[in-house]
Order: sequence, then C-alpha cells, then structure tokens
Amino acid sequence: MKKTYFITGGCGFIGSNFVHYLMEQELVERVVNLDKLTYAGNPANLKQYDNDRRYHFIHGDICDKKIVEQIFDQYKPDYLVNFAAESHVDRSIGKPEDFIQTDIFGAFTLLEAARKHGLERFIQISTDEVYGSIVSGSFRETDPLMPRNPYSASKAGADRLAYSYYATYKVPVIITRASNNYGPYQYPEKLIPLFVTNAMEDKPLPLYGDGKNVRDWLYVEDHCRAIQFVIEKGAVGEVYNIGGGNELMNVEITRTILEHLGKPESLIRYVDDRLGHDRRYSLNCEKLNKLGWRPVHVFEQAIKDTIDWYREHEDWWRPLKTGEYLEYYKTHYKTLS
Ligand code: NAD
Ligand code: TYD
Repeated sequence: MKKTYFITGGCGFIGSNFVHYLMEQELVERVVNLDKLTYAGNPANLKQYDNDRRYHFIHGDICDKKIVEQIFDQYKPDYLVNFAAESHVDRSIGKPEDFIQTDIFGAFTLLEAARKHGLERFIQISTDEVYGSIVSGSFRETDPLMPRNPYSASKAGADRLAYSYYATYKVPVIITRASNNYGPYQYPEKLIPLFVTNAMEDKPLPLYGDGKNVRDWLYVEDHCRAIQFVIEKGAVGEVYNIGGGNELMNVEITRTILEHLGKPESLIRYVDDRLGHDRRYSLNCEKLNKLGWRPVHVFEQAIKDTIDWYREHEDWWRPLKTGEYLEYYKTHYKTLS
C-alpha cells in the first residue's frame, strides 16, 4: 500500500535530502512538507517538485496547533518524520529561546496531534549530541542523556517527550539518534560547507580550540536510508543510534577539504573555542546493524563528492552567504572580520 509522509523541516539540509529520497520511491503516495522557512529553510532545495502532484508544501510553524491539525485532517498521514528544529549549536549558545520553542514545544504540538488523530509511525529525529561528550568507548541507546548545550538539551527534551507519548498514550513513536551528517544542501554555517565555501573564496577557516574535537561523520543519503529502514523494520518505543563509523578530528576534515580543493593550509585560523565544546561524539550502532542496516558510502569518496557538489553549486550557496548570514558571521567570528 502506498503511504503518505508528513515531513517537518523538509526545506532544511537533512529534510530536503529525505524528500528527494522519498520522491524516488514508488511506494510513496504523497509527501507533505511543513516548514517555517527560517534562515535554514530553503525552498530552492526542492524546487524541482513545484509542479509535482505527489509533493505538497505548506509554509508554517510546527508550534502552530491549527496548521498541524489541518494537515492531519486533510492528508491523514501514515508516517510523520519530525526534522524541524533549530539545529546550530553556536546559535543556541548565543540565543537559546528559539531552540526551546521549536525543538521542544514544536515536538509537543506534533505529538499531541498524533495522539488525537492516530498514525502508523511517528519518527522523532533526535541526535547523538543528547548523550553529551565521551572520552573513550561509544554510547549505547540505553546510556543516560547528558546534553551540555542548549541545542542538545532541547533535543534531549524532545527525545524523551516523544518517548513519553509512546509509554503513556501508545503513540507509535520511534526515536533516531544520528551522528554528524554531511552532503549536499547543508547550510554554510556548519563545519563542512562553511570550510569548503570559505576555502573556495580564499577566506580563513576558523577552527575552534585545538581542532582536535572528534565527530563521527555520516553521509546524508545513508542517514535517509536508515530512517526509511527504521520506519519499516524498527520497533515502536525504541531508540536507534545511526552512525557513520567515521570518527575524525576537525583538523583532519579541514586538511582533507583544503587538499581536495588545492588550497593552502595557511587558510586555517585557530580561534577561541566554542563554550562548553563537546570533545568527542561516538555511537555504538550494534542495535541497528543487527536489524540489517549499515552505511554504504565510504567516507573518502563521499567527502570528495560533497566538496565537488559545493564546487558545482555556487549558485546554491552564494546567495545564502549574504544579509543575515553576514551579520551572524561578523558577530560570531569577530577576530576574523
Ligand atoms: P537545518 O537547520 O538544516 O533545517 C531545519 C529545518 O527546519 C529548516 O528547513 C527550517 O526552516 C525548519 N524549521 C525550523 N523551525 C521550524 C518550525 N518552528 N516549524 C517548521 N519548520 C521549522 O537542520 P538539519 O541539519 O537538516 O537537521 C534536521 C534534523 O536532524 C534536526 O532535528 C536536527 O536536530 C537533526 N540532526 C541533525 C544532524 C546534522 O548533522 N545536521 C545530526 C543528527 C540529527
Ligand atoms: P558543527 O558543524 O557546528 O556541528 P556540531 O557542533 O553539531 O557537531 O561543528 C562540527 C565540529 O566543528 C564541532 O566540533 C565544532 C567545529 N567547528 C569549528 O571548529 N569551526 C567552526 O566554524 C564550526 C562551525 C564548527
């Protein structure tokens, strides 16, 4: 049977990759995308579906109960995948309010509507950051959550709220906690697209602290496959870690970018560290591996493809590095401007 997907935050980085992924699947009846179009939401990511009858875009806020209810009434979605969030740690440190509102209250609004209307699966897109930092070893799904910044704390709130709607009301919730994604359509404030586009412009690459913080990198298409896999094979009420299996220090990623673009290491600038900067994220993904999911993309190739995508899509990212972005950049990276 063909399914209707209710996607939130589908104009952002991972959400738009997921919409592309779904639109290629025959068993998808309809994709309804509710997005507020914040600075991070970009309709250009999905403009090819403007006249596609299977794709419906609704400009609105997940905190708006009326719009959310209308979508449930009108489209009767089988699956809801909640990507919508304020997602940048640095911005959460400067101005946490929007994070509390969207990431927690927004998730609450969606869960309430799901409780009232019913659906087959409610996928809450959480993050590895909810566990906090780990010196050695890797986090399992049963480990305590120790978020250390307003972004990860608000995501942890939503993660547990979603679980409570399963435990209390039997809403068929599944929670995924993925590691750092990379790939096309990522807003150029995050490490990889920021450094690729800055390097292309011969601008400095601001590495925080000693550059040795470790992140596990997951190619966004592998993440999309994992979400679909969890919808089909996951059990309700469960949490699934989704990792890329590529743990790298930020300075290593930076060198890879510079090397692939043929730019000098002199572009690297060591700048003041992020407040409360988590040292290392690491996920144990045995639970999902045992069900049969594994990433298929090899980091060495996928990072080159990603860099090449930004090289070939200047028309996508150049308009983003203007206006509000420049204001943010100037304030945030004071020593560089
Ligand atoms: P993003 O910032 O690129 O996109 C967020 C999208 O949500 C944007 O389109 C924005 O307009 C929309 N949005 C924001 N507030 C909204 C609201 N109130 N109502 C409706 N839409 C709203 O984020 P991303 O990197 O694509 O992340 C998507 C999800 O995945 C987030 O929940 C994030 O926490 C999670 N996640 C991200 C990563 C990563 O590496 N990027 C890793 C693990 C989990
Ligand atoms: P980011 O892409 O913001 O993702 P997250 O904080 O969610 O992991 O950052 C990835 C890593 O890169 C993180 O350790 C912070 C670091 N970083 C820099 O060193 N400089 C930068 O300008 C940015 C944006 C990030």
